[in-house]
Amino acid sequence: MEQPQQPGSSEGSLALSRRAQLAAGQPIGRLMAEALKYPDLVSLAAGFVDNATLPCDATVRCLRQLSSDSSLLRKALQYDTSAGSEAFRSTLMDWSYADWPDARPDPQDVILTAGSNQFLHLLAEALIDPGDIVIAAAPTYFVFLGTLRGVDARIVGVHADEDGMCMEALEEQLQRIESSGDAARVKAIYTVTEFDNPAGSTLSLQRRQRLLEIVSRWRRKHGPLLILSDNAYRLLRYQGESLPPLTAIDPASRDFVVELGTFSKSFSPGIRVGWGVVPAPLVSHLLEMKSNMDFGSPHFSQVLMNEVLTTGELDKHLPVIQAGYQAKLDATLGALDRELGNVEGVSWRTPSGGLYVWLTLPSHVDTSEQGALWKCSTERGVLYVPGHYCFPGEGQPVGRNTIRLSFGVQPAAGIDEGIQRLASAIDEVTAMPI
Ligand SMILES: Cc1ncc(COP(=O)(O)O)c(C=O)c1O
Repeated sequence: MEQPQQPGSSEGSLALSRRAQLAAGQPIGRLMAEALKYPDLVSLAAGFVDNATLPCDATVRCLRQLSSDSSLLRKALQYDTSAGSEAFRSTLMDWSYADWPDARPDPQDVILTAGSNQFLHLLAEALIDPGDIVIAAAPTYFVFLGTLRGVDARIVGVHADEDGMCMEALEEQLQRIESSGDAARVKAIYTVTEFDNPAGSTLSLQRRQRLLEIVSRWRRKHGPLLILSDNAYRLLRYQGESLPPLTAIDPASRDFVVELGTFSKSFSPGIRVGWGVVPAPLVSHLLEMKSNMDFGSPHFSQVLMNEVLTTGELDKHLPVIQAGYQAKLDATLGALDRELGNVEGVSWRTPSGGLYVWLTLPSHVDTSEQGALWKCSTERGVLYVPGHYCFPGEGQPVGRNTIRLSFGVQPAAGIDEGIQRLASAIDEVTAMPI
């Protein structure tokens, strides 16, 4: 964990808050700086969406539609409530739960945010006192790890495989926490439920059911515990049947499951519309905190997304991006097979959606910015996310020999070139004496 600045350092002389000091050194800023340092570099690092399939025409059509109704436009240009557009919250729940109408949440339990990161931030602020525990898969979404560290949470990792967090490992971890007398500090279990960032894994139906059982049991014994189910990639499924969200599996779980969503990956990250569906008693607390923060996320974006859903533009857009990303995923897996298929100790997971492929290298290869692979890769002009950023640091060993590859941005030729460069760097590093 980053240590707060000592008095006397330049930041110390600014008398920064402890929270500002805890936020120092986020990897995302450094990775962006590296990308700028090497302009010819092929970035397989940024989790951006494909520029070529951003919905320009659909957005223009919706804006035209919106501007043709002057009273709606006037409304969209005005402030709204802290929770966000009521009409849109209702449309959003109809649309999101069309396959599970019995599980459709009450729109009063929905809070709209500027991207789902804002919702994650709000949750961290509302739930965590210093030393409180959040349990997460190892590896997990590194930006949320930073958010949690920023509120001084203790983050405990649980072993995960291609089906997401392992439930036996979760039970063992909970048992350990209970035995150490810290049960009351456990506030939440965070899961990126579908095609997760970074490992591409999806929590299987069986594990979803087990997770609900485990948490219900824990709550009966120890009191409140939430599941934070982050569905950022839910709509980016390229193969197989969609799985029910946790609250559709067991309606009673609405008391303890927070379901997060976003249109960043499925439509446009620039519009910045995310949301959370929360247990009813939590709504007013989150809204009061949100009122302190911004008293409402951009209303214009919410009204625009309402048009996108009601006009069917999103339904038309989804198959286009799903086909595009499936082709990019195929290109990634094909290049990995060709370039690294016969290299001992190198393996990767095959996701059926999302934007990421998770690579494991021989255990002695350090993929961090301090290791030889980073230097060899950037010299060859390819950038990746070192996997160690994605590990909570407690509960599970940190996989310093892992890499997150993003395939959303590069065209197939860029993916090929990037993986060739990476394979050549891996070749060089694995030939070095250990
Ligand atoms: C797992 C996960 N959750 C949440 C987000 C937040 O996205 P946004 O704030 O754009 O909705 C991301 C973005 O990459 C993500 O990967």
